[in-house]
Amino acid sequence: APVKVSKICCIGAGYVGGPTCAVIALKCPHIQVTIVDLNQARVDAWNSPDFKLPIYEPGLEDVVRQARGRNLFFSTNVDKAILEADLIFVSVNTPTKKSGVGAGFAADLNYVELATRRIAAVAESNKIVVEKSTVPCRTAESMRTILEANSKPNCRFDILSNPEFLAEGTAIADLFSPDRVLIGSLQTSEGLDASKSLADVYANWVPTERILTVGLWSSELSKLAANAMLAQRISSVNALSAICEATGANIDEVAHAVGFDSRIGPKFLRASVGFGGSCFQKDILNLVYLSESLHLPEVAAYWRQVVEMNEYQKRRFAKTVVDTLFKTITGKRIAVLGFAFKADTGDTRESASITLIKDFYAEKALVRVYDPQVEHEQIWMDLTEAIPGTPVDSIKKQVTLCPSVLEACEGAEAVVIATEWKEFKEVDWAQVYSKMEKPAFVFDGRMILDADALTKIGFKVTTIGRGSV
Ligand code: UDX
Ligand code: UDX
Ligand code: ADP
Repeated sequence: APVKVSKICCIGAGYVGGPTCAVIALKCPHIQVTIVDLNQARVDAWNSPDFKLPIYEPGLEDVVRQARGRNLFFSTNVDKAILEADLIFVSVNTPTKKSGVGAGFAADLNYVELATRRIAAVAESNKIVVEKSTVPCRTAESMRTILEANSKPNCRFDILSNPEFLAEGTAIADLFSPDRVLIGSLQTSEGLDASKSLADVYANWVPTERILTVGLWSSELSKLAANAMLAQRISSVNALSAICEATGANIDEVAHAVGFDSRIGPKFLRASVGFGGSCFQKDILNLVYLSESLHLPEVAAYWRQVVEMNEYQKRRFAKTVVDTLFKTITGKRIAVLGFAFKADTGDTRESASITLIKDFYAEKALVRVYDPQVEHEQIWMDLTEAIPGTPVDSIKKQVTLCPSVLEACEGAEAVVIATEWKEFKEVDWAQVYSKMEKPAFVFDGRMILDADALTKIGFKVTTIGRGSV
């Protein structure tokens, strides 16, 4: 029979584990939720008395304020939390491998494996172990093998796959009313019981018809598939934006018309300077790697093109900036507004901004960056990683971090919108114009500005997906 879950442990207090399990605690006051992490600084931030949490996510602070100390706890004592829990989420990082077999494509499963081995070493009673990190297909099988090979007598492990579909910036809203919760299990009676135990946790606030239970492999593949198809929509619309720019068609009009087809739907068709984030590229490359290892080269090539189109879009946009500024930006001040990979997050992983700044740096421009959320330390870390072999002091000769839009734009020849932060729409653009060199250029990589209004002020405006005619 299904176990009634009363204690949950979540291994990994990051972007996924933190918000997800905080919401579970909020919605299930009868369940004790302990989120553990090896990173002491991170755990301290989750526990900080003034709620200076380690990640910025609208609504998250409110959730943590309500549940922390009641039935939500953050700790570095991984073993204790494992010992006590009936159900354990594994929500550790799974970056793309940087070296060895599959470098640049395959997921680095070292963290998943270490966490799994820890569970096996420590557990003294039955556990439901839930794979929450995005992992390639069949990882659950490896986890199962590790657990079974190392478990003590009378200690059963049931493995579930329960991929998380939240998007950053809207994580709390997504967790409060998810489109669906997906639970994959072995189709044995024990597997189905475990699946039911987890489904009952979600049923505290998610309508049961939205809780989908499937096989283990389907669940794992669905996560990669969903991200690949979302990214594919953006690459499709971005490919069309290039045609628009060359013909005078308008990508907004095209996307709107296309999205009206109920089979296609209106969402996720915003052309942009390119998608970023920790998931899309990583998951597609995982899918490419999986396809290749299954000897399906045509399938691999198909998905690889989604990532290539994204790289093209970023390069193309940077080239437009250079070409428009009379084919050189050497020594020119370029304001880059936005460093996060999307609005309402401080996360910079795979952000298009990084690629743009790297290109502007190579062209010897003087780049002035402003982002309302991202920590300056993070920006320097990202730029030193993106521009290898260059000490941060050399980068600082060309890149300046600014405390406001106005200061970033002071004396600049061009403004580049890289992230769709709402405050960039609300800026007094006439005032910005008065502080800039003339002609003053705006490059809207997010289609958020009113191009006509800016043109009236005097700006020369270039918008993704719009011809200059
Ligand atoms: C994504 C998935 O949406 C989520 O379901 C999954 O769990 C994790 O990956 P996330 O990366 O947090 O979430 O944000 P998302 O809103 O999907 O945006 C990803 C990137 O695509 C951002 O850079 C965003 O600016 C870009 N984007 C999104 C576009 O360029 N155009 C769009 O129409 C939508
Ligand atoms: C299509 C467009 O749907 C229509 O809007 C346009 O005006 C003309 O082209 P049509 O070719 O008549 O219409 O039929 P459609 O239903 O789109 O099917 C096209 C092909 O795709 C068929 O062979 C169909 O079997 C196949 N298909 C469709 C699938 O294999 N899977 C699907 O999920 C849907
Ligand atoms: P994601 O976006 O997938 O949540 P993050 O990098 O934000 O990824 O979070 C993953 C977290 O998991 C990190 O804070 C990391 O310190 C933690 N972590 C990794 N391995 C372990 C482990 N074996 N035990 C506990 N925490 C771990």
